[in-house]
Amino acid sequence: MPAVQFYCVGMSPTTPEPVKVTPLSGAIGAEITGVDLGADLAEECFQAIRQAFLDHHVVVFRGQRLTPEQQMTFGRRFGELDFHPFVEGSATHPEVLDIVTEPDDRLNFGGGWHTDVTFLAEPDLGSILYGIEIPAFGGDTLFSSQVAAFDALSDPVKEMLSGLTATHSAAKQYAEGAPSTRSKAMKPAETDPFEFTVSHPVVRTHPETGRRALYVNGGFTTRIDGLKREESDMLLEFLLAHAVKERFTCRVRWEPGTLVMWDNRCVQHHALHDYAGQRRHVRRITVKGDRPR
Ligand code: SIN
Repeated sequence: MPAVQFYCVGMSPTTPEPVKVTPLSGAIGAEITGVDLGADLAEECFQAIRQAFLDHHVVVFRGQRLTPEQQMTFGRRFGELDFHPFVEGSATHPEVLDIVTEPDDRLNFGGGWHTDVTFLAEPDLGSILYGIEIPAFGGDTLFSSQVAAFDALSDPVKEMLSGLTATHSAAKQYAEGAPSTRSKAMKPAETDPFEFTVSHPVVRTHPETGRRALYVNGGFTTRIDGLKREESDMLLEFLLAHAVKERFTCRVRWEPGTLVMWDNRCVQHHALHDYAGQRRHVRRITVKGDRPR
């Protein structure tokens, strides 16, 4: 997809700077420059950003200076904000998660390829992450387009997958001793992870673009429904490896003031933990979504 440029009326009345949308890789992601997300974005400008988000699945803004309230105001343009059932939000804004990885943490929150909260009947539409304290090196986030991953499959496999559903469970990450409970950023809530188990289609149709995307992920998908255990394990192993092949991905290097929003309906992501001895602090909000179809 080529780079595009437009003007946001009212963004900068004296010296209007063009807003540029520049792809980050062949399959996914774009960097948007010339936007102040803390400003009162004109509807026309917001719609252009929304279109870039739908086209590229991941959008990156640099050099922002956002309070939690400003980040939430931007998020609410996309829909109602969600609360995480297993991680305590900030004391003042419960919808906001401060994801902190301390220098001596062995694990980080968001490590491993996953799609956020697919154990919910209505998983979030998207997540909006803002960089506060960023390691001098390492700590990038990888994203993979599940539209590109689905498109790359052969027609017979696409057809077979289209009739299947898969089980997603919070217990895979949040049951006693599971990976996420070992991250210090995780303050376990009282919620029982075994109560959060749902089935979703293995291939999801995006409610806004109509594009089909692979919808299983390593974080929460536990099995393909109706298959024998060994058949399910084999198919899931293939799909999870296929879903994150390099050619479907992009990589975002963080700076303080970087804001990244991803479309949880067609993206997997993976926060790398390759910055031992350094601290990382990012602030996350999520926007509610609808039932996958
Ligand atoms: C997450 O999975 O929400 C965290 C991603 C990150 O810290 O880069």
